[in-house]
Order: sequence, then C-alpha cells, then structure tokens
Amino acid sequence: MIHMSNLMMRYQTGKVALSGLNMDIPQGSFVYLIGESGAGKSTLLKMMYGGLRPTSGQLKVQDTTIRGATEGQVRELRQRIGIIFQGNRLLASRTIFENVAMPLRVQGWDAVRLLPRVKKVLAFVGLEDRLWSYPETLSGGEQQRIAIARAMISNPPLILADEPTGNLDDDTARHVLDLLMSLNKLGTTVLMATHDLHLLTSHPGLVVQLHQGSLVTGKKA
Ligand SMILES: Nc1ncnc2c1ncn2[C@@H]1O[C@H](COP(=O)(O)OP(=O)(O)OP(=O)(O)O)[C@@H](O)[C@H]1O
Ligand SMILES: [Mg+2]
Repeated sequence: MIHMSNLMMRYQTGKVALSGLNMDIPQGSFVYLIGESGAGKSTLLKMMYGGLRPTSGQLKVQDTTIRGATEGQVRELRQRIGIIFQGNRLLASRTIFENVAMPLRVQGWDAVRLLPRVKKVLAFVGLEDRLWSYPETLSGGEQQRIAIARAMISNPPLILADEPTGNLDDDTARHVLDLLMSLNKLGTTVLMATHDLHLLTSHPGLVVQLHQGSLVTGKKA
C-alpha cells in the first residue's frame, strides 16, 4: 500500500523534517504514527497524499510515485485516499450534507445519487439526523465523526488521519477510534497520527514512532 525508501523532506526554510525513512505499510494495516510535537507526523501524512513532494528518496502510495507524479496523477491518487485533517476543516458555510458529499461532488456525482450515499455514511457515524445542520451546531466529537464520514464516502482503500482524536474527551475519542477500526476491519488501511497513546490499550495496532524526523521503531502494541 505504502513504500518508503530513504525518504527525505527538507522545507524551504532549510528545516529537515524527515530524514532517510525506510518503511513498508502493507494493505489492511492499522498504523499509529506517534512522536513528539515537531517529529514529522503531519509532514509524512501530507506527503502521502501528494500535498508535499519528497526532497529525495522514494515514496510510493498505491503504486503512485509521489516525487515524479504529475498534477493529474496526484489528483487521481487523492480520489483514492480519505483524508482527515488536523483540526477537521469542515466548511462552516456548508451543510453537513454538502461537507460530506464534497469528495464525490469533485468526482461529478449529482445530488440524486449523492443523497442516499451521504445518508448511509452518516448513519455509519450515527449522525444521520444532522444532514441539514451546519458544522458550528455540532460538538467537537460530532464534527470529527462528520470528518470521518467525509473521508470514507468514496470508499477509499486508504484513510490518513491527522490527530482525529485531538481535543476530544476519552469516551468520545474511543468512539471515533471505534469507527476507524471498523473501517479497518472492512479492509481499509488506516494511518493515524496521534498523541493519545492510552488509546492503544483498547485499540491495538502497528506503532510507527518518529523522533526528530527519523524512525524509532515499528512494533506491535
Ligand atoms: N511549511 C513548513 N515550513 C517549514 N518548516 C515546517 C513546515 N511545516 C512544518 N515544519 C517543521 O517541520 C517539523 C515537522 O513538523 P510536523 O508538522 O510534521 O510535526 P508533527 O509531528 O505533525 O507535530 P505536531 O504533533 O505538533 O502536529 C517541525 O519542526 C516544523 O516546525
Ligand atoms: Mg501534526
């Protein structure tokens, strides 16, 4: 699913955010990406959906080579990845329906096809009654569940989540994680950056630890 060799990222400021990563992530894995603030977690996730190009080395995601990919190839890759951003990024001026429908709108789906599909994923995250609400009328945990619904709507084989449980209380965080785990059980590869290490006890997965841009360990929790 994901292959890295000697992967390096240096920002224009000269900051080396990732240096020489070697790792393979098999299809169907559930991976926790951990490490201190500034370790390079968001940088790595961003590269995986082509938001950043590696400075050197190789990164292959679902057979797309990120460094050499054309804009068109990156756009096409993104249609096969569900992304949950750090701080969810729902559009405040759009209804939940429009927020969740977005990835399929981009692919040209019309409202008639969209409605049943959006209802289905909202039911999965337990928020089908909020279809016509606006994001600001939802709690933080509910907004994170909407972000999951949006990420899963096109049935992507890979979901990248950047601190999806940040700022949530323990119970709500576990609920969000339950949802990601059930997607994983259905075959979706999930890669999630987090600081919430206590979640690992109830929701085990593969742990990938970064420290100052380098890989520390890959072990089963
Ligand atoms: N656009 C940028 N330009 C220059 N340096 C950057 C940029 N984005 C991030 N960095 C630097 O790269 C390093 C890695 O940042 P990154 O956001 O990947 O960390 P992180 O592990 O996600 O941290 P956090 O847990 O706080 O979200 C940090 O030192 C950061 O300051
Ligand atoms: Mg981050």
